[in-house]
Parts: sequence; structure tokens; C-alpha cells
Amino acid sequence: MVAAMGLWRRVKMPRPNCTLQRLRLLMPCVCIFALVVPIVFFNYRTITYFLRPIWDTPPKPFQIIPHYYAEGMPMSQLCKIHGWTQRETPRRVFDAVIFSNEVDILEIRMRELMPFVTKFLIMESNATFTGHRKPLFFKENQSRYEFAQSKLQHFFLPSRPHNPNEDPFINEHHQRQAMERSLVLAGMKDGDLLITADVDEIPSAHTIRLLQNCDGYPAIMHLQLRNYIYSFEFLVDHSSWRSSVQIFNKDIQYKHVRKTDHLLADAGWHCSFCFRHIRDFVFKMQAYSHADRVRYSSFLIPERIQGIICRGSDIFDMLPEEFTFKELIGKMGAIARSFSGVFLPQNLLENAESFKFLLPGNCIREAT
Ligand SMILES: *[C@@H]1O[C@H](CO)[C@@H](O)[C@H](O)[C@H]1NC(C)=O
Ligand SMILES: *[C@@H]1O[C@H](CO)[C@@H](O)[C@H](O)[C@H]1NC(C)=O
Repeated sequence: MVAAMGLWRRVKMPRPNCTLQRLRLLMPCVCIFALVVPIVFFNYRTITYFLRPIWDTPPKPFQIIPHYYAEGMPMSQLCKIHGWTQRETPRRVFDAVIFSNEVDILEIRMRELMPFVTKFLIMESNATFTGHRKPLFFKENQSRYEFAQSKLQHFFLPSRPHNPNEDPFINEHHQRQAMERSLVLAGMKDGDLLITADVDEIPSAHTIRLLQNCDGYPAIMHLQLRNYIYSFEFLVDHSSWRSSVQIFNKDIQYKHVRKTDHLLADAGWHCSFCFRHIRDFVFKMQAYSHADRVRYSSFLIPERIQGIICRGSDIFDMLPEEFTFKELIGKMGAIARSFSGVFLPQNLLENAESFKFLLPGNCIREAT
């Protein structure tokens, strides 16, 4: 009998099968657990971002135009090495930005580009993209930009009626269209070079000098910028691409989207959230087109923001936008600190005392 039972057991329920069966029963539980835990501990958006490599397709890769530069090289040789030819008279250059509250970065931008720019066009509205009333920070701080007075044209754009549930991109679009109309008012003519960028996307001086003095490059090129966050201490990657340069014609569009496959390599800096005061971070977080990223009011607490600036972590607690798991996982967590202050805007280093907060090792911000 005992022997028979043993046999029965051996025949009926061999061990491996038993484990398999249990696993099969457990499987749904494991799946539910695997789904519920992230939903409880993270949130819908985090999961969506984490799964981006599955649901999203990466944009078409750019055709990157190699970019060469060394100090002191003659322009003829610089044009030639790019396969371009040197112009007899330099192109006129117009730098057009929509300004919100980036007073320090704007000063660095204007000092960097000052020698090569014909006109700085600065559009400012009395409402943010999210429709909140906004002081005219540029006007109020105008004395800081006196050095560029002769080249400056400031446009005031009155706010449009705003519905509280409206997508902030509608206001952004409205401001971009107004800028488009201002280009001709500012005297732009066929053949002039237009820089289309956010205030914090700064082409390097030598890049603009090159484009102003050479012929033969595509009529529209995006600029690849070194991507920093909070200051030049945190280099995120080299993949900022939204800014562009375009040769002016009457159909030109002032848009901040992909316009062409051409991307000029290593053409400057993009310093996001590079503010002097914690209050400027709070303002920007609520003002810009991605203000819906402020999911909890606790995100705006100054101590939290200060901690994040010093750690180099994400101010909205979000995962990076990446299209492969390898890159996504590689970029999760805080950004590595950089100790390099080589190849930064020259006027930033010349005025290092007053722009200290932008340099490595100075993450503490002014509280008020
Ligand atoms: C902006 O300015 C215009 C005219 O100067 C005014 O009519 C409008 O109410 C202002 N908008 C806000 C949000 O204060
Ligand atoms: C200058 O602009 C900043 C915004 O970045 C603002 O907080 C400050 O009040 C302005 N300064 C003056 C003197 O208006």
C-alpha cells in the first residue's frame, strides 16, 4: 500500500510539475502585483515615461554637420574646412527671443552675441504661457542691458483672453506668431540670418561668426547645444536641438519645432532653469508650457527646490524622455557633477563674481 502510494505520488505529481503548476496559479498574482506596485508607488506619468521605448518611436535621426573651431584660425580656412566659401560682406544677424524671466541668462546671451548681432529682438508679454499676469521683467531690469541699447528692439505683446483650462501651447503659439510678424518690422531682409531660440539656448559667438562669414550651408539648420540644467555644473547631455538658424525669406516661420534634418554639431549651450533666485524657479515652473508637470504644490517648496539644485536631480520628479531602455536607465537618477569650466561663454567667466551661481561648486541660491 505504502509502496503503491509512493508510486502514485511519483506518477501523479512529479516535483517539477508541481512547481510549474503553482507558478501557473501564482502568475496572475505576480502580474497584478507587478502592475499595482508601480501604480501605488509611482504615478501614471512615471510609468508612461518608463515605458516610452515601447509606445513611442524615436524621431528620425539628424544629419549632423561636423563643426570645427580653434582659436585664432583665419575665417577663410574655417569656411573651407566646412566645405563652405567665405563671403565678401558678413551677413546681418537677428537674434529673436521670447522673454519670460530669464534676466541673467539673457545678459550672458546678449554679451556673447553682441559683436555679431545686428539686432536683438525681445518679445515680452504681460501674461505667462499659462495665462497668469506677469510683470514686465525685461523692462524693469532694462538698465542691465544698456550695453546693447543700440541693437535692442523690445516688443510688448498684450495678453490675449485666456480660458483657465486652455493648453498653454496656445499662448506660446500666439507669442511665436507675433514674433514672426515682428521680424519684418525689425527690418529683416532676404539673406539675413535669423536665430530662432529660447533665451536659454545660446549659440556660441564663434558659431554665429562662422555662419555670418560663410556661404554654402543649408538654409535651415538646427543647432546642437550642450545641455545643462540649473548651472554649468550639471551637463545633462549634448542633445539639445530645438534652436535653429535660418536664412530669412518671406515665408520664414518662428517655430521651436523640428524643421529640417540638418543639425550643426556643438554650436553652444542650453542652460535650463539656470536662475539666481529660488523664486525664479517657482515662477518658471508655474509659467511655462509644461506647467502641468507641477503635480503637487509641495514641488514649489523652496527647501525642496534648493536640495534638487544641489543634487542635480529632476525638479519635477520625472524620468528622462528616452527612446531606448539602455539610454533611459543610463540617465535615471541625479546628473553627474561637472568640474569643467572650459568652453563656457567668455563673459560669464569674465564676470564670474556676479554669475558665480552658474559655475561648478556654487549650487546654493539666493532665497529671496
Ligand atoms: C496686459 O496689458 C493689456 C494692455 O496694456 C491689458 O489690457 C491686459 O489686461 C493686461 N493683461 C494682464 C493679464 O494683466
Ligand atoms: C528683474 O527681474 C526679476 C525676474 O527675474 C525680478 O524678480 C526682479 O524684481 C526684477 N528687478 C527689478 C528691479 O525689477
